[in-house]
Amino acid sequence: MFTYSDLRQSLRASLGAFLPPEEASAEAALWFAEGLGREAAWFHAHGMDPVPDSERHQIGAWLGRREKGEPWAYILGWTLWRGRRFETGPDTLIPRPETELVLEAALEVGKRLGVRHAVDIGTGTGILGITLALETDWAITATDISVKALAVAQRNALALGAKLGFLSGDLLGPVPDPVGLVVSNPPYVDPADRPTLQRELSFEPESALFAPDRGLALCIELLRQARVRSCPGCVLEIGAGQGSELRARAEAMGWKRVMIHRDFAGHDRVLVAF
Ligand SMILES: C[S@@+](CC[C@H](N)C(=O)[O-])C[C@H]1O[C@@H](n2cnc3c(N)ncnc32)[C@H](O)[C@@H]1O
Repeated sequence: MFTYSDLRQSLRASLGAFLPPEEASAEAALWFAEGLGREAAWFHAHGMDPVPDSERHQIGAWLGRREKGEPWAYILGWTLWRGRRFETGPDTLIPRPETELVLEAALEVGKRLGVRHAVDIGTGTGILGITLALETDWAITATDISVKALAVAQRNALALGAKLGFLSGDLLGPVPDPVGLVVSNPPYVDPADRPTLQRELSFEPESALFAPDRGLALCIELLRQARVRSCPGCVLEIGAGQGSELRARAEAMGWKRVMIHRDFAGHDRVLVAF
């Protein structure tokens, strides 16, 4: 008899062929919880139950895709971010936990500046704009240059009951005045780093990851446009090691206060300018 416990063990071993042991174990638990709806508590009571053929085949099919490098969030079709479920797919970046630091900084600076509206530029799945719409009383607009990504964000907003506007176009181009607080996780990966990146990233849209000028181009252009349009402030996710150069560029544009926040690994992660 092949039990759930056997299945978990063999899944951990299969994932362990290309992931470190702790990650393989954590991911196996995710497959059971998110994929099969079998949480740890269920497992304690039913670990020795036989696995139906349908679930064995399902795990086998997922494994075939995962072994080729496809991220779990794409296989599953959704991911949890700040406790909410967001549809994810090949047209959007997979939401990352560190982007919550952008949200926290935006909530703080928005309160401090008394903002009444904000724009999420490059919304992807919509995590920032939708969460701001759900957690504040600000008027929110979300934009993306990719109409396919915007369609995903719109479906997520509908599913989560968030009320916000959507516009397609390049950076602040489609946003009417007054623009409000600019919140964004723009593409900031240096194209020169491409050969060293995890294979999972090759499944994500290039336009969501890479930016010219060592990854800095979109952050700089967004800061420039926000300044010209007299936005009250900018909260941007940035790459590790990009903080000091971006701070200098922002100050040279006339932003009075520019701060760099670090993530839990100690890397530059969020730029706040106002
Ligand atoms: C790093 S992803 C971030 C997605 C989402 N905000 C998040 O945090 O998960 C960057 C997003 O910016 C969009 N984008 C890229 N260039 C853009 C541009 N020039 N103007 C507007 N959006 C752009 C991409 O299509 C992508 O959805």
